[in-house]
Amino acid sequence: MSTVSESIFMRSLQRLPVERTPVWLMRQAGRYLPEYRETRVKAGSFMSLCKNKAFACEVTLQPLQRFDLDAAILFSDILTIPDAMGLGLSFVEGEGPRFAKQLTDIHQLEALIMPNVDVDLSYVMDAVRLIRQEMPSHLPLIGFAGSPWTLACYMIEGGSSREFKRALNWMYLHPEAMQLFLHQLALTVSEYLAQQIAAGANAVMLFDTWGGLLTTHHYQRFSLAPMAMIVNQLKRLAPHVPVILYTKGGGQWLPTIAQTGCDAIGLDWTCDISRARAQVGHQVALQGNLDPAVLLTSEACIRQEVKRVLTTFGSGPGLIFNLGHGITPDVPPEHVKILVDAVHEQSAIK
Ligand code: CP3
Repeated sequence: MSTVSESIFMRSLQRLPVERTPVWLMRQAGRYLPEYRETRVKAGSFMSLCKNKAFACEVTLQPLQRFDLDAAILFSDILTIPDAMGLGLSFVEGEGPRFAKQLTDIHQLEALIMPNVDVDLSYVMDAVRLIRQEMPSHLPLIGFAGSPWTLACYMIEGGSSREFKRALNWMYLHPEAMQLFLHQLALTVSEYLAQQIAAGANAVMLFDTWGGLLTTHHYQRFSLAPMAMIVNQLKRLAPHVPVILYTKGGGQWLPTIAQTGCDAIGLDWTCDISRARAQVGHQVALQGNLDPAVLLTSEACIRQEVKRVLTTFGSGPGLIFNLGHGITPDVPPEHVKILVDAVHEQSAIK
């Protein structure tokens, strides 16, 4: 049996040759799986699912039992950090996350106390240790966190939004205070990911879901700079652990993202992966970038679109197949099997 470091996922992150393209999917554990919905009912709420290591482990492993996936991702959420800061996180059915504590004034940011990762987020490390122990030993486990900018968006807005107008308003009106806050979040996220690595995560990913809302100038300063700081810290502490950066809507900034020293860039479905490769392919691996809407179509269409991503990327190493964003709850699980198998079949004959 091979080891994690010999796995096609870890090798692809280093741009080493592989016999077939590795695949895992953002939100591979989630509501589209009936067994996930069952465990969630047992847990009572989304946060109790995250905070109970046995439940978190169970749902992490569910997609691996159904599909031939090449990596597991820790079951948790990016909003564990604001939850640990006492903002009172809950998930309202059909509405997404909501914080009980509203931030109405920029000065409230200064008063927020960063969590003590060792204590307040120890449940996440307990889950990582248990998952690492229970999952197949040759498969990699991905740890993750939200980018400082994306965390700030949710915290300032008090929950989900499409535009995050209050976060943007505070950024424009109080850039120094925002920058300081993002810096503090970056320190916390670095510590959080370092601890996930110490607990057994083999690679880590930063989800910058809302970086794409920003102008190029503001992206560099408020989203990318704090992420670059995290990459730096992690490369000092754990130089061999790959770091993946994903900015949804970040397709026009790939060369500067690659300059952070990350190992791979996650691409959303709007990017042309051959162009992305031409821009940054010698520096980093690429992860993506099938449109999640394809999973709602048909077997023939899924196979055709998988082929399109593989051929657009072209031959040679450095591709990790994924969606351009997470699986939605309305996806039939059979379609996920078609996708995963198609990636393996079609890339093996490439
Ligand atoms: O399988 C995996 O990918 C691992 C688990 C994971 C979850 N959230 C579980 C989850 C990961 C990696 C995340 C990341 C996350 N969380 C992001 C970044 C990626 C992205 O989707 O852009 C963001 C923005 C969040 C914040 C968040 N958590 C939102 C906006 C929501 C509600 C939206 C929704 O789908 O309902 C969540 C809840 C959440 N996180 C669910 C899951 C499976 C659904 C909650 C439920 O079971 O009711």
